[in-house]
Amino acid sequence: MKHEKLAPFPKDFLWGASTSAYQTEGAWNKDGKGPTVIDVRPKKEHITDYTVASGHYDYYKEDIAKMAEMGLKAYRFSISWARIFPKGVGEVNQAGIDHYQNVIAELKKYNIEPIVTLYHFDLPYDLEETGGWDNRDTIDAFEQYAVTLFHALGDSVKYWLTINEQNMMIMHGNTIGTGKQSTEKELYQQNHHMMVAQAKAIIRFREILPDAKIGPAPNISNVYPASSKPADVLAAQNYNAIRNWMYLDIPCFGRYNHIAWAFLKEKGYEPEIAKGDMELIAQAKPDFIAFNYYSSKTVEASKNDGQDRSGNGDQEIVIGEEGVYRGKKNEHLEKTDFGWEIDPTGLRSTLNAIYDRYHLPLIITENGLGAYDKLEEDGTIDDPYRIEYFQKHFEQAQLAITDGVELFGYCPWSAIDLVSTHQGMQKRYGFIYINREEFDLKDMRRIRKNSSYWYEEVIRTNGESLRK
Ligand code: BG6
Repeated sequence: MKHEKLAPFPKDFLWGASTSAYQTEGAWNKDGKGPTVIDVRPKKEHITDYTVASGHYDYYKEDIAKMAEMGLKAYRFSISWARIFPKGVGEVNQAGIDHYQNVIAELKKYNIEPIVTLYHFDLPYDLEETGGWDNRDTIDAFEQYAVTLFHALGDSVKYWLTINEQNMMIMHGNTIGTGKQSTEKELYQQNHHMMVAQAKAIIRFREILPDAKIGPAPNISNVYPASSKPADVLAAQNYNAIRNWMYLDIPCFGRYNHIAWAFLKEKGYEPEIAKGDMELIAQAKPDFIAFNYYSSKTVEASKNDGQDRSGNGDQEIVIGEEGVYRGKKNEHLEKTDFGWEIDPTGLRSTLNAIYDRYHLPLIITENGLGAYDKLEEDGTIDDPYRIEYFQKHFEQAQLAITDGVELFGYCPWSAIDLVSTHQGMQKRYGFIYINREEFDLKDMRRIRKNSSYWYEEVIRTNGESLRK
């Protein structure tokens, strides 16, 4: 729809930026932190590991000072579960709590709203050793961990996210590196257990922090049919259900999406649902939906030729499911240096699709461009491609607001450069450059990229500058 006049971004819009603990903090075994599934994953020769990352654990004050210079209104970051419970359960590590209390105090000093993710891919390794999400004990461990944080940080944190991209952990965990090799059947059982864990955490949240807000944070992308062929349209419906709606229907409606459930049954992947699980889930409605968006997806009907295998691909590259859908290149879209399609209009259609379905307030908790940025000799980083990317995505967000979507914040990925999930440090996302290379740690200097000055103006004018 074309609008004659755009609605402004809401007053108090949470212009922010995001990171996750394991991709930025480093200090992988400092101050009592236990190992996580990320720390023990097999090293790849051509990319760095996460032991140092961006050094954010030690440099957080400097990083937050730069965020404050940019005028950020919010910072979305995750807590490392293994800093709080080095073994995932049991004894609390006070040094871990102190660290995050200090981070939050630093944010508050600059009036930056903390948005806390409880769990972003880095399950404590001791829990993995006892079965990880296959084991229902991990549900209780998550509840204990969440409750500990609600008590320890609840005074100063209003916005909480439960689990980052649960859908990507299930569908692309092997590529991202979030856990052991599992069969599909096991994966969907793990998925169910995470849903119960999330529900239990939300139920406790209501008792402990009745005035704060909580929501899930999946990766949601509108799925397009490759053509108007009815079979392609059905394939798009299938993939939308399996990739997107299953992960939001469960917390928001308290039930499995019917197409997703039919898919699980057809493939023999349906999870065992213990007595009382669905009742718990139905009691634990979120206050808002946070979601990460990088690109739309395009699919056609499966050709049933044995080539559609869901295990490959990554968060944004769709392969397929035999008999269900097949990923297809979208000829109308350009790609990033790393092969992800760029679709700003898809952000508007995704916002509308989510809002139409759930009618809950929305916040974008990730969206951004992975690129090979270069530190110039004069000490600057010129990233016009990132400015262009955000200009177009912010415009589409404003169009969605004008369409009537209740969007209360936008936290691009990422605040500072970090180590990507499977493509190392060379794939940079930050507004703030970290002066290290894949293996050479250099001086770890923090330098604002040109895009950060552009974003500062967007924030200062609450989006008005986008139209200049
Ligand atoms: C999301 C994750 O999938 O996308 C982030 O929540 C991740 O952790 C981001 O870094 C970008 O993906 P990648 O694979 O380029 O790091």
